[in-house]
Amino acid sequence: MTRHFLALHDYTKNELDEMLALAADLKRKQQERIPHRLLDGKTVALIFEKASTRTRVSFEVGVFQLGGHGLFMSSGTSQMGRGEPIKDSARVMSRYCDGVMIRTFGQEIVDEFARYSDIPVINGLTDLFHPCQIMADLQTVIERKNSYAGLTFAWVGDGNNMANTWIEAAAIFGFALRLACPAGYEPDQNVMAWAQATAPGLISLTTDPRVAVAGADVVNTDVWASMGQEAEQKEREKAFAGYCLDDALLSLAKPDCIVLHCLPAHRGEEISDSVIEGKHSVVWDEAENRLHIQKAIMATLIK
Ligand code: CP
Ligand code: NVA
Repeated sequence: MTRHFLALHDYTKNELDEMLALAADLKRKQQERIPHRLLDGKTVALIFEKASTRTRVSFEVGVFQLGGHGLFMSSGTSQMGRGEPIKDSARVMSRYCDGVMIRTFGQEIVDEFARYSDIPVINGLTDLFHPCQIMADLQTVIERKNSYAGLTFAWVGDGNNMANTWIEAAAIFGFALRLACPAGYEPDQNVMAWAQATAPGLISLTTDPRVAVAGADVVNTDVWASMGQEAEQKEREKAFAGYCLDDALLSLAKPDCIVLHCLPAHRGEEISDSVIEGKHSVVWDEAENRLHIQKAIMATLIK
């Protein structure tokens, strides 16, 4: 049966740990210029219905480094963007390619694509989840802290696709996660209910960023208005007042804490320039690790 990568909850901790270990191995091989052509001659379609820098470049470069070919497709220049049914696109792409990555809006779009696809489908971000990013984030945490086990993670900001995926990660990997989100901007209720049932007591939600950040090992934030929510920018700026991850807020975390941000960042909104440029920030390693973890995910799924 074709295995997809649409959400972390489809995988066990062991399977995800294996991908993280493979990503570390591929990173070392890349740095030491040791060939690792695990996708020799394979083609991976990269479908984008939203903008991207990191996801596009890391997938395209990653599949090339694995000996394969990345095929960029945008909604503006493909028939999908003109309304060709997802199920038709999925069956056609399956006849040409060996794998497909999709960045789109609703999670139901990647679910539908996967249902009709004979080739592995990888979620490159939906409104609900961003699983490749959280895997890169965990790779970064492991590099800095040796393990995620026993650490306390803090999320400050919108209950968005990143927050939802952190919630799944906390439940699967078994670490503590404290989220601070303004009223009305909480994470997805179904995701939260699943995580609370899977791993009771690990995840908490507050409206006070100081409560979430106090004593945390890993502090994470993201933009207040995600792609598709640009029209809400002004009203969100009001709702998120007091949620900027600045030096004062970060001073409550552990002295050796690390700061994650998936990027792109809006300095002066969700994160201050001094924090993203400061000594706790690991955002450039985090961005680099998108390359290595996605190579691991593709090499695991695409046969
Ligand atoms: N973090 C992330 O997914 O970045 P892009 O939107 O640039 O792909
Ligand atoms: N939450 C952001 C993440 C961007 C990588 C968005 O969906 O726009």
